[in-house]
Amino acid sequence: MTSSTVSLQVVRGDQQSGPVLERYEVPYREGMSVLDAIFWIREHRDPALSVRYSCRSANACKECSAIVNGKAGYMCSIRAVPGTEMKIEPLKARAWIKDLVTSLD
Ligand code: FES
Repeated sequence: MTSSTVSLQVVRGDQQSGPVLERYEVPYREGMSVLDAIFWIREHRDPALSVRYSCRSANACKECSAIVNGKAGYMCSIRAVPGTEMKIEPLKARAWIKDLVTSLD
């Protein structure tokens, strides 16, 4: 990990496989959100990484909720911090479906 990358530990898996923490080194870009970093992983490492989102940045759809470093928030509005390790988990209050996706009810 360097100051030009951000390390993401992301919960992967589903009810059948159980959760596994996967680690990804993501090149940092100025102003990058945690959701942007997740998109980078999908584009360059694993297109199967599941995440729910619609608006991508307006903080309007509220679909990108996750637990980031132990606190619930919207991944599109939380900034990635270069040179650090960030832990991204699905919401615990909702039924887990896959990776970062939980049920909407
Ligand atoms: S993607 Fe819509 S609030 Fe984050």
